Amino acid sequence: MDTLTAITQRRSVKHFDTGHQMTEAEIDQLMAAALLSPTAFNIRNWRFVLVSDTELRRRIRAAAWDQAPVTDALLLIVLCADLKAWATTPAPWTAFLTPWPN
Ligand SMILES: Cc1cc2nc3c(=O)[nH]c(=O)nc-3n(C[C@H](O)[C@H](O)[C@H](O)COP(=O)(O)O)c2cc1C
Repeated sequence: MDTLTAITQRRSVKHFDTGHQMTEAEIDQLMAAALLSPTAFNIRNWRFVLVSDTELRRRIRAAAWDQAPVTDALLLIVLCADLKAWATTPAPWTAFLTPWPN
């Protein structure tokens, strides 16, 4: 599939085959692909948390306007971000702030 076709045919999927199971290898592949997500200045201030505990998923669903996919989708991945990472992470962007030597 070329890029434009992927963009124009992409849809949010909101119905799930509850009988489907994924292999560990497929899940690992998806998580590895998520880690390729870009971040500003490549700060990578995120964590992708795979939530498998049923009770925890129920509580997250309650906090997410009771949306069924939170408990019913095969996988629930919570994207967390450290919004203050710029203050503590060794900063790759300092190179942009350092005056260029004359
Ligand atoms: C930042 C963001 C948050 C979204 N949050 C939800 C959500 O909480 N629940 C939901 O069912 N869909 C959510 N969506 C999906 C949108 O409803 C969907 O993208 C929109 O209806 C357009 O449909 P399409 O993605 O199939 O083109 C979200 C989309 C974005 C970009």
